[in-house]
Amino acid sequence: MAAKKFHLSWFMNFVPDLWNEPFANGGSPWSGEFYMEMAKTLERACFDYIMVEDKLCVSESMGGTAEIYLKHGLAPKHDPAPLAALMSSVTSRLGIVITMSTLGYPPFLLARLSATLDHISRGRFGWNIVTSAEDLAAQNFGLDQLPPRELRYAMADEYMDLVNKLFDSWEPDAVVMDRKKGIYADYRKVHPINFKGRFFSSRGPLNTVRCPQGRPIYVQAGGSPTGREFAAKHADSIITLADGIEGMKWYRDDIRARAKKNGRNPDDVKVLFLVILTLGSTMEEARAKRDRMASSPEFVEQTLALVSAITDIDFSKFELDSPLPPLTTNGEQGSLDKFTQFDSGKTLRQLTYEATEFESSIELIGTPDQVADRMGEVIEEVGGDGFLITTHNQRVGRNQVIEVTDGLVPALQRRRLVRTAYTYPTLRENLKEF
Ligand SMILES: Cc1cc2nc3c(=O)[nH]c(=O)nc-3n(C[C@H](O)[C@H](O)[C@H](O)COP(=O)(O)O)c2cc1C
Repeated sequence: MAAKKFHLSWFMNFVPDLWNEPFANGGSPWSGEFYMEMAKTLERACFDYIMVEDKLCVSESMGGTAEIYLKHGLAPKHDPAPLAALMSSVTSRLGIVITMSTLGYPPFLLARLSATLDHISRGRFGWNIVTSAEDLAAQNFGLDQLPPRELRYAMADEYMDLVNKLFDSWEPDAVVMDRKKGIYADYRKVHPINFKGRFFSSRGPLNTVRCPQGRPIYVQAGGSPTGREFAAKHADSIITLADGIEGMKWYRDDIRARAKKNGRNPDDVKVLFLVILTLGSTMEEARAKRDRMASSPEFVEQTLALVSAITDIDFSKFELDSPLPPLTTNGEQGSLDKFTQFDSGKTLRQLTYEATEFESSIELIGTPDQVADRMGEVIEEVGGDGFLITTHNQRVGRNQVIEVTDGLVPALQRRRLVRTAYTYPTLRENLKEF
């Protein structure tokens, strides 16, 4: 029986890369060149897409100040939209997905920016839809605090309705470029939308030509029941941090059932699981690499800062050697549950040490061949659809990319688990290929 092919994507962050590591890139990637090079490398390895994370604040979640976030270079986060244009300009097949928050962007501007980027990339643009999870982000947009999750998703649902109408405000054949009659676009095929909702209104039409893909690819990461419902209704690709094979299978089955209930073909929704890989020439080397990292004081501090930021809980107020009490959040509950190992009562020190696994849906450690075998087995058991590869805090170095593109991917290709060439020019087509 032929092996089940799966999709590959990479989750990174427009942040100061690995500025203080032995194999550092320098820490000033603000021209975008480092990430453009990374996009080209991922395209060489036939990845489906690269995705840029984003947040709209300088976090103070840990310790009540920005100290820890600035100390570790976790706070500066440049705008992913211009980076998407740059990455698009040096690639021709790789999907380019960026994160934009429904809290921050007025729907008209987001639709216009997305349409523009879908044109610049010639049909390879995707939007990671987030509703934001931080009060500090809300305060950058004139709110006192973040609306509760249910309300955020109700607003986002209406937002999607609006932007979908804007994307459709230009009929596919509106641009006629009739040289004889001197007509660029037929005004009868460009329509106002006159949208008046509970939260948003917009007259339309969009003042950009219809996107090559009709609309961008929608990516989403719903974790709560409301979030999963939203994702299953709207997303073409869903990304998640799941808990082991059981958790992965449960999540994918849940999404597929919800997609079906919403009148969609579940095969049109590709679930990609967040993973962190530890690769070495031998298993011993890979284990040593992970232990070295997990026991460094920087790793402990950065992990707590990251968990504080995504959950809006100040982890500096807990004793490192006391059991952690049960916790809930208006932020990312799923990530919190995985970090606390579902309120396991373990000490914070132990949880942090084991956090190398918390950031990964499944443990993937060993030689490229060992990890490739494991990835194949996992997808076979789960049923699909692929992996979203990342690194700790999404800070990335050239070495980590090369280990994957020139070690792991060839091993996956030898097993016919991933593509060896792109068949199609657009991200939508590549996602639907298998
Ligand atoms: C892989 C992954 C990537 C995410 N990227 C972002 C991001 O870039 N910005 C952001 O504000 N939230 C991000 N989130 C948070 C999700 O949008 C979502 O809020 C979270 O998974 C919790 O689900 P819920 O909103 O249903 O509670 C991400 C989550 C995951 C699992």
